[in-house]
Amino acid sequence: MNNQLRFDGRVAVITGAGGGLGRAYALLLAARGVAVVVNDLGGSRHGEGAATSAADRVVEEIEAAGGEAVASYDSVEDGGRIIQTALDHFGRIDIVINNAGILRDTSFHKMTADDWERIYRVHLYGGFQVTHAAWPHLRDQGYGRIVMTSSAAGLYGNFGQANYGAAKLGLLGLANSLAVEGQKRNVLVNTIAPLAGSRLTETILPPDMVAALKPEYVAPLVAYLCHESNSDTGQVFEVGAGWAARLRWQRGRGAFLPLAEALTPEAVADQWTTIQNFDDPTYPETPLDSFAPVVENLQGGRGAGGQGRMGAGETENAGESNLPRSPAPLPPRAASGDISDAIGHEFEPKTLTYGEKDLSLYALSVGAAVDPLDASELPFVYELNSSFRALPTFGVAFPFSLLWQITDVPGLKFNPALLLHGEQYLSLPRPLPTAATVTNTARIANIYDKGSGALVLLDVHTADESGQEIAYNQVSLFIRGLGGFGGERGPSATWALPDRAPDAVHHDRTNANQALLYRLSSGDRNPLHADPAFAAVGGFDRPILHGLCTFGFAGRAVLRHFAGNDPARFRSIRARFTRHVFPGETLVTTMWAVGTDGAFAADGADGQRVLFQCKAAERDEIVLSGGVVELT
Ligand code: NAI
Repeated sequence: MNNQLRFDGRVAVITGAGGGLGRAYALLLAARGVAVVVNDLGGSRHGEGAATSAADRVVEEIEAAGGEAVASYDSVEDGGRIIQTALDHFGRIDIVINNAGILRDTSFHKMTADDWERIYRVHLYGGFQVTHAAWPHLRDQGYGRIVMTSSAAGLYGNFGQANYGAAKLGLLGLANSLAVEGQKRNVLVNTIAPLAGSRLTETILPPDMVAALKPEYVAPLVAYLCHESNSDTGQVFEVGAGWAARLRWQRGRGAFLPLAEALTPEAVADQWTTIQNFDDPTYPETPLDSFAPVVENLQGGRGAGGQGRMGAGETENAGESNLPRSPAPLPPRAASGDISDAIGHEFEPKTLTYGEKDLSLYALSVGAAVDPLDASELPFVYELNSSFRALPTFGVAFPFSLLWQITDVPGLKFNPALLLHGEQYLSLPRPLPTAATVTNTARIANIYDKGSGALVLLDVHTADESGQEIAYNQVSLFIRGLGGFGGERGPSATWALPDRAPDAVHHDRTNANQALLYRLSSGDRNPLHADPAFAAVGGFDRPILHGLCTFGFAGRAVLRHFAGNDPARFRSIRARFTRHVFPGETLVTTMWAVGTDGAFAADGADGQRVLFQCKAAERDEIVLSGGVVELT
């Protein structure tokens, strides 16, 4: 068989492999080239006693079939010794299957602390000990496959199995977090809830079922999860008798209770049907997904009456690589066939007024005028200056007043937590007025199918009181998991940096409280930029800066170096958000002046373009790429 999945050179520890399911895994993996540590304590099904014969028999079977195996008789509670057996005999460890198990079934009112403790120690504590001992080796070598064994009793509950069910669901919780921690190091952790005939099930299943439900029917799925070709992690599968299916969480749309009003038990009672309704479900996969509607409600998205704020994650702003990813995003909500219908959708126009104070606050929030001895940026922050003027990138704030409507576009159903700000383009026909009442209109210009997600291009036109356009934004929003709807793929980025030294490099040290300032100037109140607890949920160890704040810093750098701080020369700006920035980091904007033909053009030449990228110096990470400013 040419396409046989082989495991040559790999080493596995399989706990409880002296019988039942573990034995089936051991025989299959050994036949595919794995050197196996056959671990089994050899006690009774209730966890009493110990014997070497169970493990020895399976080792003999493997060796008789030409495979390689060694026995380990330690309890999983001494996980370190089991892993050491693998290292001593085979010099490495690649695969861990936590399978050892016992039962002490009894109804909860009769359950003793000893019943609870013994089950906990074999299943959950044992799973921890074995995995914990293997973990550093797997991490360091950048490869590992781990399988945890849960049970329907844990997933759904079962009479007489409170101890067992709790431990079994505990293993799933362990796997979920390890999947997140291990993913970057290619240590993948999945969970199974099997059904097979064994000495554990022979007392509850009829004999013919025990005989029919062969452990060999479960083993292939476990082997696949342990193979290097598997890239899925953090998933749970029910498997038995040749049937296998992934299991996931489903959540109703939920009720958004208005925070502006008193939140009472009666309000909950009124909404009880909605709270329990599954008509239009979502499938959360990460804590961030879990928090998304909470943040949405906090931000006034729904419960407070939809007052024009973006939903959670929408200004996430560090591009596609920002958020912790679920391994294989599923369509966040159904109805992807309708996505193309959303093209051309028009948002409800929004009018807003701004003045000198808004402009000054914005300019300060993107780092203007930090040096009191340098007056060159005073006109952006000091309204008494005779040439007070708007920093051009203030224009990116306009779409914000209506962007939240993206969550209400018919046909475009998604979980706001999966939405990332991909790119921003702003063009200005002339300098922005220093005070105006403007009206924003927006329309979905296109939606591209990028496979892993949908790229939504939102055109936002901003007009002054006389109806004259003063700004045009194109906001590119990437919705993870919403691809594959059969739409156009759209153009690919073709941006390349000149192959020469830059013409200017600008350093800006952001303040530790930069995001707190920017949220006031931009109106983007996403707690991700302020509250450490929310940032932690998003996978960051502290709040991150708004991507559009970094964008403003970069735009300022270009304006200063190539246009003498003159907004009249600033025609447009574009950039892509690639990574997050932590407030306090140093932004390094690197710039190249080129003509419209791409050749070098001296400062002041007509039709000049400036290409730029921006780095977070301390982490040496590119945070804005594909930057282009058009000057006149
Ligand atoms: P089994 O009793 O044939 O296999 C479990 C093995 O674990 C035994 O050989 C036992 O000696 C060993 N073991 C027990 N305590 C140990 C310890 N402290 N250290 C090392 N080894 C120890 O049972 P089966 O059915 O093959 O179970 C395998 C796993 O699958 C268990 O975790 C069980 O809870 C789980 N499971 C099985 C289901 C089934 O339908 N058979 C259903 C759901 C879960």
